[in-house]
Amino acid sequence: MKKYLVIGNPIEHSLSPKLHNYWIKENKIEAVYNKKKLGENDLENVISDIKNRKIDGLNVTVPFKKKIIPYLDQLSLEAEKTQSVNTIYLQNQKIIGHNTDIIGFERSINNLNLSLENKKILIIGAGGVVPSVIFALIKMKISKIILTNRTPERTNVIKNLFKNIEIVRWGDKTEFDVVINATSVGLRADDNLSLEYLNSVSGKFFYDIIYNPYMTNFLINAEKKGNTISNGKMMFIYQAQEAFNIWHEIKPNINSELMEIFKID
Ligand code: ATR
Repeated sequence: MKKYLVIGNPIEHSLSPKLHNYWIKENKIEAVYNKKKLGENDLENVISDIKNRKIDGLNVTVPFKKKIIPYLDQLSLEAEKTQSVNTIYLQNQKIIGHNTDIIGFERSINNLNLSLENKKILIIGAGGVVPSVIFALIKMKISKIILTNRTPERTNVIKNLFKNIEIVRWGDKTEFDVVINATSVGLRADDNLSLEYLNSVSGKFFYDIIYNPYMTNFLINAEKKGNTISNGKMMFIYQAQEAFNIWHEIKPNINSELMEIFKID
């Protein structure tokens, strides 16, 4: 029986086990996927468990996507460029770290039949997922990426990875075609981003990385004003699909039954 694990802290909310176990069953694979809350001191041990074949693959979530890197033998180009790892596997006795959030975000946009080519993108937040979103956006040939974060110093980390992005001060009005909420604001139903200028925008595209709850105030208000909206549900599903493909060499189905199971409100 092969063993897979998602590690993070907190981890209770993670829907990865439900999704992977659904696909494991559908594809009749002898495997199980669990979640485990870890501390930073446990990271080294969990990686040795992969080397010793006690674990066959790992997903990594907040706050370990960067912290796990020193324990790995090799990074994919995507993981290296974003300094972010969400999928780990053993290949030729080497522990490889890869980033499937990038392809997850990219496919979620393609799935909407939207082209972001030549669009001006505003990203709100500077947390762990932001480099992956930027990497994908650059591939989509957007015209400009503007970043804003409540704590300005944190944008430096992102700017060091991607030199061409522009930083604007928190609260300063900014023109954009697309705005992406990459903060944790919205995880609680009463959360509200304190960015007044977002409330007067119409005819734009609002994307929230959050998928649980299904509709954040960011999206509810945007929709009321006549903007196109999307939450992060398909990004979550596509990143998992790619990790599954890496571990099992099967690209699992995303069908209506699966979408029904993962209807989260
Ligand atoms: P990660 O662990 O992935 O880095 P994180 O550190 O929780 O995630 O990042 C969450 C993001 O949400 C950050 O950009 C954070 O802004 P700060 O850097 O200023 O903390 C942002 N965020 C969280 N709560 C916020 C709030 N009430 N208003 C604005 N931004 C907020």
